[in-house]
Amino acid sequence: MSLYFAACSPGLEGLVERELQGLGYKQTVQRLEGGPSENEAGGVSFEGEAEALYRANLWLRTASRVLARLGQFHAASFSELHKRANQLEWERYLRPGAPVRLNVTCHKSRLYHSGAVAERVLAGIAGRLGMPSPALTTDGPADAPVQLIIVRLARDRCTISLDSSGELLHRRGYRLAGAKAPLRETLAAALLLSSGWDTSAPLLDPFCGSGTIAIEAALLALGLPPGRNRGFAFTHWPNFDPAAWERILGEATKTGPARQAPIQASDRDAGAVRMAIENAARAGVGDAIEFSQRAFSAIQPLSGPGWVVTNPPFGVRVSQNKDLRNLYAQLGAVLRRACPGWQIAVLSADPRLTSQMGIATKSALSTRSGGLNLQLRSGRVPDE
Ligand SMILES: C[S@@+](CC[C@H](N)C(=O)[O-])C[C@H]1O[C@@H](n2cnc3c(N)ncnc32)[C@H](O)[C@@H]1O
Repeated sequence: MSLYFAACSPGLEGLVERELQGLGYKQTVQRLEGGPSENEAGGVSFEGEAEALYRANLWLRTASRVLARLGQFHAASFSELHKRANQLEWERYLRPGAPVRLNVTCHKSRLYHSGAVAERVLAGIAGRLGMPSPALTTDGPADAPVQLIIVRLARDRCTISLDSSGELLHRRGYRLAGAKAPLRETLAAALLLSSGWDTSAPLLDPFCGSGTIAIEAALLALGLPPGRNRGFAFTHWPNFDPAAWERILGEATKTGPARQAPIQASDRDAGAVRMAIENAARAGVGDAIEFSQRAFSAIQPLSGPGWVVTNPPFGVRVSQNKDLRNLYAQLGAVLRRACPGWQIAVLSADPRLTSQMGIATKSALSTRSGGLNLQLRSGRVPDE
């Protein structure tokens, strides 16, 4: 059994934990060597065989990356760090000469110089793999996948992890072009899961931009894994098991309901709608979404009630932006007219904006993205 860590944006830990449970993995409380148990923010620890790591990368919708915990040990001197780093089983994950990138942070530790820590860890790896340390580069050739190694020193305890994902998991491979202010795919999935959307009910996003919410919704409703159109760092590891991976990919194609409720997405910007249609086609869910170009004031849900999950424009200095306040007030009026009895979930950087809708809402999720504190507020549009 190995220890893994599914990292995510702050506030999304509960969703990642639920997703892991759905895959059959339970959260593990980390017991650091010689130290107390620790629950970490920014992600969820879990244990399993290699298949757990493969499944998590393929299926997790709200995690940013999955790390393999290679070792946790006490290191208060460089010689101790070098010795312990050298004892780790690097040969399972790195081929000699493979380009690596180290991300080192030091916090309240005797070893506080991150550059010197990186040097000692690199020397430990090079010694273990039986090669001189210059052969390991910190910036590899552009065409070779660079293995990210994460070293955290906190209170003289060193945790060394390998990134198993490669590109961050929000890069599903379907969104080449982004419209204005596109939402990260992981956050779009988090909005859907936090909104309480019943995947067999209609869904509407009247500010769809590049289509992220609708596309993530279709993947969710059809039971398709978000990572099916991309590669992962673990497939380059010497211990990679291609047969197990093929089996997991094979299982993934067997799931999913035959029928699905309507997913509608619209935006007033013709370019955005064009991009959204292309993105949905690349994601393989083009047929599952009805896209249209229209202002939100012209929305006409096909059926209902269902869910409106959306990310309208939000300014940073909201209190000074009268136009935005008007937009949210108008949105409230449109929803009362067109979507009575629907559930709504609206993402915004300022709850004062959502309150302009005149529909009672409560916080369903708080997180940070792009340097902003964001809140998803959910509620129910009153019946006519
Ligand atoms: C924050 S972006 C949404 C981004 C989207 N979630 C994505 O992932 O790409 C807001 C979108 O609202 C659209 N928009 C602004 N005013 C609108 C209006 N009156 N009616 C419909 N869409 C509007 C913009 O064109 C923009 O695409």
